[in-house]
Amino acid sequence: MAKISKDDFVNGFVPHHNHGSVDYTGVTDGHVHQCLDVTSPPIRHEQGHVHYTEGYVVFEDGHTHQYKAYSGPAIPVGNGMHVHYYDFYTTESDGHRHHVRGVDQPAPGNR
Ligand SMILES: [Fe+2]
Ligand SMILES: [Fe+2]
Repeated sequence: MAKISKDDFVNGFVPHHNHGSVDYTGVTDGHVHQCLDVTSPPIRHEQGHVHYTEGYVVFEDGHTHQYKAYSGPAIPVGNGMHVHYYDFYTTESDGHRHHVRGVDQPAPGNR
């Protein structure tokens, strides 16, 4: 099996990969939480693949929030890499929830 380094062009689907992301939640109740995430491996989908993720946002203002979400389908970004959109709400805690929306870090494979 060919070794693939992160700078090599990868044509097609890589069955074992995940995506990291470093983001903030939206502002609610005067604060944000950092959201540091690593997704599940790819899940086959009619439009290619998606990823599942669950976890906790970073403790801030005396509380944390949970989340469970699926990403959007793979979006090719050139150089044999792809990204996914994510858009979800955390669970309610301390009487509020947060919106989390963005694009994850590119991973190998162009679909
Ligand atoms: Fe992916
Ligand atoms: Fe909060």
